[in-house]
Amino acid sequence: MSKIFKIGIIGLGCRGYEVGKRVLNILPSVKITALCDKYEDRIERACEFLEDKNVFKSTDYKKLIDEADVDCVYVSCDWEMHAPISVYAMEKGVAVACEVGGAYTLQECYDLVEAYEKTKTPIMFMENCCFDKTETTVVNMVKDGLFGDIVYCSGAYGHDLREEVTNGTANRHYRERNYMQRCCENYPTHELGPIAQILKINKGNRMVKLFSVASKSAGMDEYIRQGRKADAHLKVGDFKQGDVVITNITCENGALITLKLDTSLPRSYHREFAIAGTKGRYTALMDEVFLDGDNEWKKSKPLSDYLKYVPPYWSPEEEKRIKECGHGGMDYIEFVHFFSALEKGEEMPVDVYDMASWMCITPLSEQSIATGQAVDVPDFTNGKYKTRG
Ligand SMILES: NC(=O)c1ccc[n+]([C@@H]2O[C@H](COP(=O)([O-])OP(=O)(O)OC[C@H]3O[C@@H](n4cnc5c(N)ncnc54)[C@H](O)[C@@H]3O)[C@@H](O)[C@H]2O)c1
Repeated sequence: MSKIFKIGIIGLGCRGYEVGKRVLNILPSVKITALCDKYEDRIERACEFLEDKNVFKSTDYKKLIDEADVDCVYVSCDWEMHAPISVYAMEKGVAVACEVGGAYTLQECYDLVEAYEKTKTPIMFMENCCFDKTETTVVNMVKDGLFGDIVYCSGAYGHDLREEVTNGTANRHYRERNYMQRCCENYPTHELGPIAQILKINKGNRMVKLFSVASKSAGMDEYIRQGRKADAHLKVGDFKQGDVVITNITCENGALITLKLDTSLPRSYHREFAIAGTKGRYTALMDEVFLDGDNEWKKSKPLSDYLKYVPPYWSPEEEKRIKECGHGGMDYIEFVHFFSALEKGEEMPVDVYDMASWMCITPLSEQSIATGQAVDVPDFTNGKYKTRG
């Protein structure tokens, strides 16, 4: 890459700080020239890892976008601000790499698409799980037809967030208020991203209807009852978010998707990625590739037996080099893809239509849980999905 991209980071909490330090600060084609957070101490903390500390600093994202010397911004703030900041940046012609999270309203998703179509300012939804080794290897196997016609895909955001959520006031973190005020599939995209790519969502296929159900909310109450580390103001009964939310989505081509949010009961982290087709299936929980004709009583093959499908950017040498750059290296890889598309003027690998259709699962799930009804998933491409390749 020949061009050096100047980037501003908006949102310097856990994620913005880590990505700034471990990815943006070391990418040779990137220079961090501006920092923004609502809190000045977070801006100062981020300044520490910069070699050139003479950067533009502001607590106002509009000021950064309007006045700083930036080609692009990385938006890593609270979920509430993803759409407004991304829209503002696009309108000002500043390219956007926006972190993941669900939307609050469908309107936000339409706003993103409208701003992009009006300005054509590049925007990528930074769904790093679309670049992980397991998911990218399986995507390549699907493309090669190993699993046949894909009929069913499922995945989860399975992550014990009880401590993060219940210490949200102390840590000035947004999840606490979200878990208190809403009951929805609040984080659908880690599992939906790779699934949508497998099912060619927005590129020949689309999600049509969604139905979500939620369990009761008991995990946080138990955590608080036990007197575990939590904000002092929290009481039993404060949380509205159900512990487990299941969302079923039907697709135009007849495939079915199941998403599971499971973040407030004890568990280990897993995305439970699984796909099933007419010729076989892959189940990440068991790391099991099962192809038609395999003997079901013999051990199926692990994914590592399918080396030829691993993308080159996951070569052992590259993996070793980038493994400390966040989430085993996938954070680094997603930014390499972002800057490469930006430099070549190519379509972003996760574009605004993906962003809108994945983010909209959150408000739709909220509506479905509240009403007990299935709801339609909008087509943000306005029919273009039929011919997009
Ligand atoms: N892709 C991943 O693997 C991954 C991992 C963690 C978090 N995330 C995403 O990153 C984002 C941030 O998560 P986090 O855990 O770092 O949260 P955080 O609360 O630690 O950080 C968010 C920061 O944004 C700042 N902020 C909020 N509104 C702002 C505004 N209007 N202007 C400027 N700054 C503002 C806050 O002050 C805070 O410092 C979320 O969207 C989350 O979903 C993604």
